[in-house]
Amino acid sequence: MTGATSMRTGLCGEVGLDDVGARVRLCGWVARRREHGEHLAFVDLRDRSGIVQCVVDTSVDLRSEYVVCVSGVVRRRPEGMENPNLETGEVEIGDCTVEVLSVAEPPPFLVEDRADVEEAVRLRHRYVDLRRPRMQANLRLRATVVSAIRRAMERQGFCEIETPLLWSPTPEGAREFAVPSRLHPGTFYVLPQSPQIAKQLLMVGGVDRYYQIARCLRDEDLRADRQFEFTQLDMEASFVTQDDVLGFVSEAVLDAAEAATGSRPPAIEQMSWAEALDRYGTDKPDLRIETAIVDLGEVFASSEVRALAAPAVKGLRVRGGSGTSRAALDALVERAKALGARGLAWFRVNEREGGGGSSLDSPLARVLSEEEREGLLRATGAAPGDLVLVVADEHRTACTVLGQLRVELAAKPVGEGPHRYVWVVQFPLFEAIGADGHPAAAHHPFTMPHPDDLDRIETDPLSVRSQAYDLVLNGWELGSGSVRIHRADVQARVFKALGVSDEDAESRFGFLMNAFRYGAPPHAGFAFGIDRLVAVLAGEESIREVVAFPKTQSGSDPLTGAPKPLPVSSLAELGIRIAGR
Ligand code: AMO
Repeated sequence: MTGATSMRTGLCGEVGLDDVGARVRLCGWVARRREHGEHLAFVDLRDRSGIVQCVVDTSVDLRSEYVVCVSGVVRRRPEGMENPNLETGEVEIGDCTVEVLSVAEPPPFLVEDRADVEEAVRLRHRYVDLRRPRMQANLRLRATVVSAIRRAMERQGFCEIETPLLWSPTPEGAREFAVPSRLHPGTFYVLPQSPQIAKQLLMVGGVDRYYQIARCLRDEDLRADRQFEFTQLDMEASFVTQDDVLGFVSEAVLDAAEAATGSRPPAIEQMSWAEALDRYGTDKPDLRIETAIVDLGEVFASSEVRALAAPAVKGLRVRGGSGTSRAALDALVERAKALGARGLAWFRVNEREGGGGSSLDSPLARVLSEEEREGLLRATGAAPGDLVLVVADEHRTACTVLGQLRVELAAKPVGEGPHRYVWVVQFPLFEAIGADGHPAAAHHPFTMPHPDDLDRIETDPLSVRSQAYDLVLNGWELGSGSVRIHRADVQARVFKALGVSDEDAESRFGFLMNAFRYGAPPHAGFAFGIDRLVAVLAGEESIREVVAFPKTQSGSDPLTGAPKPLPVSSLAELGIRIAGR
């Protein structure tokens, strides 16, 4: 048995029929106790590996969550007493002597996966919560995933290097955590949003292939897929193209998935950002959902129907949706409007009366021509029993609204299988023009423009593609990366387009630009969220379930009480006075 130490012969969950007759010593927590006649009790003993039943003398006072050491003999359970729900359900430990190692107060909640406990209570007593089999499995899965990633990166010649946590601002766009300097009052370090600049400096430093299981810190609003602190597989390599990076990262992700699930997912497919937007209405397509958005521009090109006159007309087939009630359809229309569409047209597809073909049930059905009705069915592939949703609007709006409805109507939890990975490539370099007249960087300002689009940076910035790529899993963004700009002239043009002044660039990233003057190799990299990957592989909806000590949605830690005020004396040492006190 594994897990043997000086105090125990092995683990509770590993005792089986092979051990019948053997004397064992097991340590763990009392999970449950049931009386069995006058002098005996069944005690379920739990450790990280599982539970085993021990038959003990009632003279020992054993209560829930007491920590005990049980010595006894493994025996086959009497016929009819086996428990098929327990790994160890065919055996029990008899002839027991029990030593209490620690007494325990009654636990704040049942240490069972089924127990439905408020999250704040779970987190306040995380040390109890972590004893639940589900949490134990999640933590171990995380370790398995990280270990597989490390092996994959090392096999590919990457060198693990730690980068500083006390750092200077990085340009990832999230709000940063600041750390006051005691030795230089009034100045601050910044906790890194990612090792982005450090890893680029490592490339200038000739490291060639860097990776790190990196802690990153971002002061942003927390959600199911976001924590203040999280962990990335961060990597960067020199003298590589986008395809090289996609290859390195695919290897690590597929190895990790295989280690976690026992089967290797197929090679990860690629899709351009433009196609993702067009077919799925998002840059994070969830490919588990079969249906895709289709273009109805041609079908309604010369339509008389005013509601369908728009730069783009897009349709979505909802399989089996023809039974959707009027009230539910009205709610969908409202939802589409809330998402920014002018409106939403719907068509319930029914069997034509008398059989043979389909008929459309919709307020618009009567005003469509026969050709339009047929075209709609042909383009969407809809059949009797389906529902078709149509949005006529600006191209991006029509796609994103239907894309959102596509996901909401399917309502699939992120962790529900199968796992569908996809590389989204050729992102635009810039996002929409902001109020200041400048576009914002779609990834970060060091992303290399697509070589064919370089001459449009000044004239038509929004049409410039980048060499940036995302990895998406079941509709979650798992990671991002790009080929970096290593040429000062291109960097200067991108900064200019972004509206970053020379002084600003100098004060924020001068040290990187300086380094580039001393010989920067072409380089590219990527980072993906390990918390997110593990959550999906564990079938969890929130990354909090795969982090040992997460913060609540409101950013606090019910266990330690953080964040907390500091004593005035500590603040004084840092040269800080709290406003209003
Ligand atoms: P990006 O900012 O896209 O890229 O982050 C990469 C991945 O990190 C994870 N992630 C998070 N996970 C949990 N909580 C958060 N608050 C959080 N924020 C991000 C996501 C995300 O896809 N330096 C670049 C990468 C590069 O260009 O090499 C970067 O950090 O899974």
